[in-house]
Amino acid sequence: MPDQSTIHSNSSSAHAQASAKITSSESARSPRLIAIGGGKGGVGKTFVAANLAVALARLGRRVVALDADLDGANLHTCLGLPSPDVSLADFVAGRTLEPEKLLMQTREANLQVIAGTHANLDTPQPEQNQRVELLRGLRRLAADYVLIDLGAGSQRAVLDYFLVADDGLLVLRPEPTSVENAYSFLRAAFYRRLQLGARGYGVREIVREAMDQRNERGIRTPYDLMREIEALDPVEGRRFMEAMRGFRPRIIVNEARTENDVKLGFSVASVCEKFFGFRADYLGYVNYQKEARDSVRARKALVEYREASEAATYLKRIARKLVDSSEAKTFSS
Ligand SMILES: Nc1ncnc2c1ncn2[C@@H]1O[C@H](COP(=O)(O)OP(=O)(O)OP(=O)(O)O)[C@@H](O)[C@H]1O
Ligand SMILES: [Mg+2]
Repeated sequence: MPDQSTIHSNSSSAHAQASAKITSSESARSPRLIAIGGGKGGVGKTFVAANLAVALARLGRRVVALDADLDGANLHTCLGLPSPDVSLADFVAGRTLEPEKLLMQTREANLQVIAGTHANLDTPQPEQNQRVELLRGLRRLAADYVLIDLGAGSQRAVLDYFLVADDGLLVLRPEPTSVENAYSFLRAAFYRRLQLGARGYGVREIVREAMDQRNERGIRTPYDLMREIEALDPVEGRRFMEAMRGFRPRIIVNEARTENDVKLGFSVASVCEKFFGFRADYLGYVNYQKEARDSVRARKALVEYREASEAATYLKRIARKLVDSSEAKTFSS
């Protein structure tokens, strides 16, 4: 495996202590929301979410891991919890409106979980107004980080979590289908962001049309869309430009085996900039690790099950990077 230093930043214990102080003195702040998506199923979203949750908790941060994948909820299992008594399904069904009542304690002192669903229940997805309420509730939790594990696909319910979060992490695997789905996910998320931000009916309609890649207006890229909108309404055009700059997904390549796999994160980031017009950061990669499957079977995060393994080390570095970038922002705001 090639040298990680160009992607992963180094951590220092002195910095960890400084960050811990910032967190405790800022405990009244609302938590940072981090959504983990990826378009394709089975690429490791839940694995990454569970491991980052444990790694962040072990860095002394208060963490809540939320399973927003109501169809295939399994985050609680990856974190060693039994079938849940309470879950997001209770929120969706209106049985409780306060996310703090859904929290389940894990083995890690700093880590709580809001599970996805009760076993064998045909739970509907939350409506948009419920998602807004849920996100409001999440921001009131006494936590430093809320990690949101998303389901596969690019449906609105999934995209909206990704867009509302402070950080949107995109997990992809080095295989053509996963890369393809990652691009469609990013494209859909970006257009959804524009659509939600558009004020005038005419502009909203153009964005809606542009979402169909074979639209008759010939809009193929966000740049084409921008030109159309500027022609229609220069003020909206400027706001769109800002929306474009504000959309900054962070890429994680999972199950990397070769040097080319590692480079994939850079090429996805550069395609985003060149063809979509927004920037994406390459947050890091996680190598393929046989023990990852064993850790899931053991219902433990890899960072707990094989703390010293290569993949666990990379996962911990990504957690450290998230802490460094988000707490630098918190400190300067
Ligand atoms: N770095 C890795 N090395 C080896 N195996 C891995 C790695 N990451 C994940 N896996 C394995 O891949 C399987 C699928 O991962 P996971 O359930 O996290 O995918 P997902 O993207 O959440 O899928 P879904 O969309 O169905 O929720 C897991 O059982 C896990 O053991
Ligand atoms: Mg999953």
